[in-house]
Amino acid sequence: MNQPTSQPASEMVPPREGSAVAADLPPTFPVASRIEQLPPYLFARINKLTYDKRRAGCDVIDMSMGNPTDPPAQFIIDKLAEAANDPRNHGYAPATGIASLRREVASRYLRKWGVRLDPETEVISTLGSKEGFGHLCLALINPGDDVIVPAPSYPSHVYAVALASGNPLAIDTTQPDRFLGEVARRCESPAGPPKLLVVNFPHNPSTTVVEPAFYRDVVALARRHSFPVISDLAYSDVAFDGYETPSILAVEGAKKFAVEFTTMSKGYSMAGWRVGFCAGNPQIVKALSTIKTYYDYGMFRPIQIAAVVGLRDGEAEVVAQSQVYQRRRDVLCEGLARIGWPVEVPKASMFVWARIPAVFADRMNSMDFAAKLLEEADVAVSPGAGFGPAGEGFLRMALIENENRIRQAVKQIGRAIGGELRSAGGPGQAS
Ligand SMILES: Cc1ncc(COP(=O)(O)O)c(C=O)c1O
Repeated sequence: MNQPTSQPASEMVPPREGSAVAADLPPTFPVASRIEQLPPYLFARINKLTYDKRRAGCDVIDMSMGNPTDPPAQFIIDKLAEAANDPRNHGYAPATGIASLRREVASRYLRKWGVRLDPETEVISTLGSKEGFGHLCLALINPGDDVIVPAPSYPSHVYAVALASGNPLAIDTTQPDRFLGEVARRCESPAGPPKLLVVNFPHNPSTTVVEPAFYRDVVALARRHSFPVISDLAYSDVAFDGYETPSILAVEGAKKFAVEFTTMSKGYSMAGWRVGFCAGNPQIVKALSTIKTYYDYGMFRPIQIAAVVGLRDGEAEVVAQSQVYQRRRDVLCEGLARIGWPVEVPKASMFVWARIPAVFADRMNSMDFAAKLLEEADVAVSPGAGFGPAGEGFLRMALIENENRIRQAVKQIGRAIGGELRSAGGPGQAS
């Protein structure tokens, strides 16, 4: 772990009582070193610029965060309202989720992936998959344990490990077979297997996807070297052109080694509701359940009840929402290609992971290029560096604006950088 966010604890000396400074300033207290080890929030500059522009009356087209802007299906909202009107639903709910919700998760796994799960011992609900992942790290990691995480990195994959006092080892995940080769090399090295392997396909931010054979190899490796695997399947419901996201749990014997996180945040557009699940290996599910009972209560019962009907009856809406993202993807990718910036077309997820054109990458890092798009085109995107060093040279564009706004964004980007792209003769390869 690198750069501390702020002053080191040892330098935070409270002023002497009675001094002028002590009278004027609130006291400062040293925070735990686990907080201090966290790096500065790399999206802060873009967020601040966006905020300043908006305050100045500018209509920023915001493609920076993977935060769905469409509402969930109406019948799910109606169920929430109905359940909230029942006075019996306002007490604490079980930390692991109500039985009908866990049953519904198991049914969906069976329908979607042919996976049989015992809802009592192999499924738990979480307050979104991010909370579940963070707490699972606390349940599985001892200080100094090596944990392999994907690079570029969804920040929680790195920092939840670090906050659990583990040692995140980020390995390039954009070529899954090479990634696995690296993991295998590590297992056979004197250091031995990692304490834990984290995989995430469709991957945020790179949008890399895998086929079922990849997970067969992961499970074989886990079996050979006896380490557990966490699969983060946050984007399983957003897939394009007939691509079907595989589940690691569909591999014969996977439950001996793996758990998988899914969520209603993306495909069901319920990000603010905080409905996620962890399923698979009963021992790991139990460990997560133990940690959770000490840290939190279950999600608000009306949300759980609405989630039950969403999982049971919402498949058509999930498919329709995925098609919405696919159309936005097409508008963005085709538009960027037209202005001389061809990008890789994703098969899944809510993002386009765009290599910065060489004419700019030669002289600008991803943070400066993202700031340029915001300043000159009024379009907010995420700089690749926000996902660790492996993200440098890229931008992540989230498909959360509607098609017209995306068309407008492309027009504005073209106006801002099209001239330079054309005079450089196309995007070329970033160096
Ligand atoms: C890879 C990945 N995992 C997990 C999450 C967290 O999702 P949730 O809303 O279920 O906590 C996200 C959200 O952006 C994500 O991109």
